[in-house]
Amino acid sequence: MTAQLINGNELSRKLRGEVAERAAALKAKGITPGLAVVLVGDNPASQVYVRNKVKACEDNGLHSVLEKYEASMTEAELLARVDALNQDPSIHGILVQLPLPAHIDAQKVIEAISPAKDVDGFHIASAGALMTGMPGFWPCTPYGCMKMLESIGYDLKGKHAVVIGRSNIVGKPMALMLLAKDATVTVCHSRTADLKAQTLQADVIVAAVGKRNVLTADMVKPGAVVLDVGMNRNDEGKLCGDVDFEGVKEVAGYITPVPGGVGPMTITMLLVNTIEAAERDAAAR
Ligand code: GUN
Repeated sequence: MTAQLINGNELSRKLRGEVAERAAALKAKGITPGLAVVLVGDNPASQVYVRNKVKACEDNGLHSVLEKYEASMTEAELLARVDALNQDPSIHGILVQLPLPAHIDAQKVIEAISPAKDVDGFHIASAGALMTGMPGFWPCTPYGCMKMLESIGYDLKGKHAVVIGRSNIVGKPMALMLLAKDATVTVCHSRTADLKAQTLQADVIVAAVGKRNVLTADMVKPGAVVLDVGMNRNDEGKLCGDVDFEGVKEVAGYITPVPGGVGPMTITMLLVNTIEAAERDAAAR
């Protein structure tokens, strides 16, 4: 193996420690930072994610409220809950777990969240803030990727970054964050004509497709930094990313493992956004 690992668990421990300190400082002023997590229906993966988010809050001095509703909940009922949480002064961050049942318009629900409490960074106001360089909340997964690059002291100025995937949650915001740090950014996707020709040019590659082996060793320039956002299962049922880790680690300069890479960073950045929301609220009082 030539690549150095970027350990998401280790970096998360450090950043969560900082969150816990900031939470303690707020508590000393009589403010307990609070996150509301709303889960509709019984998607098993969502239940695990939500449990992990609530536990991460408890472990780091944040107050969390988990609201669970039947899949039969109406859109109007959910919008009413979001509105109540918007008004609730003990709640600084609101997260509505996706996916929502098909009869609920997820975008409409996201737009109902107050941008000041949009710790997922999914509201169009948050997306617009990211695009224009204004203060706002950044989506947690790409934000975590930026922290991983920062942790290795990587200077993006003038570097070529290739993002594979163009989702609103990862690919597009990732590209904007890299651009804001003066990288030259290429966004590739399922219709890209020659993906390998693009990735071979890259100093930094972020794979965020949700498919195994999207990036293999022959597609990576020696020494490149490879961040793997994928969360897939291999034929043996083991967790794996979008990157062929065994092959790519022999070529890359840095690589994130799966599990233990970008995954834990997503929840960590949710905590960071929530503490930030609470601090902004405290400053505005
Ligand atoms: N579903 C999968 N990932 C996420 C996430 O980061 N936030 C929300 N709200 N739902 C998700």
